Parts: sequence; C-alpha cells; structure tokens
Amino acid sequence: MMIKLQAKEIVFGYDSNPVLDSVSFEIAPSKLVTIVGPNGSGKSTLIKCINKIVSPQGGSILIDRREVAKMTRMEVARYLSYVPQSSVRIFPTNVFDTILMGRRPHIGWLGSERDEEKVWDVLQLLNIERLAMNNFSELSGGQQQKVLIARALVQEAEVMLLDEPTSNLDIWHQLDVMNIIRDVVKKKEITAIMALHDLNLASYYSDRIIMMKRGKIVAVGDPHSVITEENIASVYRVQAAVRKLSDRPMIMPLRQIRGSKA
Ligand SMILES: Nc1ncnc2c1ncn2[C@@H]1O[C@H](COP(=O)(O)OP(=O)(O)OP(=O)(O)O)[C@@H](O)[C@H]1O
Ligand SMILES: [Mg+2]
Repeated sequence: MMIKLQAKEIVFGYDSNPVLDSVSFEIAPSKLVTIVGPNGSGKSTLIKCINKIVSPQGGSILIDRREVAKMTRMEVARYLSYVPQSSVRIFPTNVFDTILMGRRPHIGWLGSERDEEKVWDVLQLLNIERLAMNNFSELSGGQQQKVLIARALVQEAEVMLLDEPTSNLDIWHQLDVMNIIRDVVKKKEITAIMALHDLNLASYYSDRIIMMKRGKIVAVGDPHSVITEENIASVYRVQAAVRKLSDRPMIMPLRQIRGSKA
C-alpha cells in the first residue's frame, strides 16, 4: 500500500491529563477517512497533532515519509489545509479575501490574478459566489462553514483536515460539501481526514473510518467493519439498529445503555 500519511504512536496530554494514548494509523493517497467517537474522545486533538497546532509528547506524524514536526509553518501549510471545529475565528474582511488567504502558502500576502481566479472557481464550486463581497462575520453559521471549507480547498494542499465540517449545515448542504470533498479527493488524489459526528454520513462517504474512545483507536477499517451494533454499543453506550442501505451500513440509535462508562 502506498502511504501518504502515517501517525506513529502519538501520545498527547494537556498538562498531565492524557488525551491521546499511543495512536497509530496509516492512510493511503486518494482516500476519504473519517474519525468518529464520543465527545471528548480526542478527535479534534488528534487533528491538531497532525497539523502541528499542538505538539505530541511522543510519537511522530509523517507525510510522504517526512516528519511534520521538522517542517516549517509554511511547509506545513503547503501539505495540510485545516477547517477548525468552530469558526470562532472571525475574519474582519469579506468572503473573497477570507478565501484568498488560503492561497498564502503559495503567493505570500498579495494575490496574483491567477490566485483570484482560483478563489472564483471555489466560490462557484461551493455555489457561494453571491456572498463574495459580504462580510464574513455577517454570514450565517452554515455560510461561514462553507467559506472556511472554500478557504481550505483553495489552498490545494495534499492532505485536508476537516473538523466536523458539516455540523452547521442542513442536509442539502451536507451532501453538497461531502460530494465536493469526495470528488476533490478522487480527482486530485489527495487525502481528506475529517472528524464527523454523523455516523451515517461517515458511513456513506468514507473509504475508511477510525473509531476512537478515550484517546485510543478502538476500530479502524471500511464502514462495514467499523459501523456495527457491537461497536456503537461499546463506544457510544447506545443500542442501535444497523441496516444496509445503498450497500452501506446505516444506523438508527434506539436507546441509551445506562451504567457503563464512555
Ligand atoms: N485546550 C485544551 N486544554 C485542556 N484540555 C483540553 C483542551 N482541548 C481539549 N481538551 C480536553 O481533551 C479531551 C479531548 O478533547 P477533543 O476536543 O480532542 O475531543 P473531541 O473528540 O474532538 O470532542 P467533540 O466531539 O466534543 O468535539 C477532552 O477531555 C477535553 O476536555
Ligand atoms: Mg472535536
């Protein structure tokens, strides 16, 4: 198997609280991989370790066999784009310029005409051209989320990291964003790694799913091997019905399982 990204025994804790406990995985190019798991299980922290936003106390992340820890900020930005979980970062500018910022690893501060064309292409792709001159801070939560995804797409990095990119989107826009990301992954042979709470969306779109519980990977593989009633029960403490639909496992949560620990 060709390997694009490799995590080797990542150990991380904020202060002395362990959050990631020897997390290892390998991802091939041209794959859409989702990370699922309960609140607080370490999904966002894992994404931040990959992205060098936080530095693991142990282990290493390699892209094309190069250690991310040894890359400069600019090199990291050329390899990795990132859509954070919450858009608390309010950009004091319009949508067009917010997205143009995604081109910085390629152009420095000032955009060339070609970079501006790329911004228009992404605006079109996400069907948000009409918002181009709007203030970022005056958009709805879902519109802001689409702009941040556009900003990551325009960066044209080899690995896209997306932390719950569909959390503010209605079902039409969820499918829109997932289709766009899947198409980019296949067409440009890049890798997308995203944290998702929606297990059905994860199941429908993922090549591979990484399921986490309390800082550990408890299951990894294709949707059929990971999205099972047993795994949902032991990881989420929820009794669920899992059925095949469009050849993917789809889940319906039925009831909470009391008495066990998340
Ligand atoms: N900046 C921080 N300082 C201290 N502890 C943190 C910080 N960020 C996260 N944590 C803790 O690390 C653990 C993992 O958090 P993380 O955000 O990675 O979880 P998550 O799986 O992304 O959860 P969610 O589904 O709610 O987004 C949690 O116990 C959380 O309280
Ligand atoms: Mg999170």
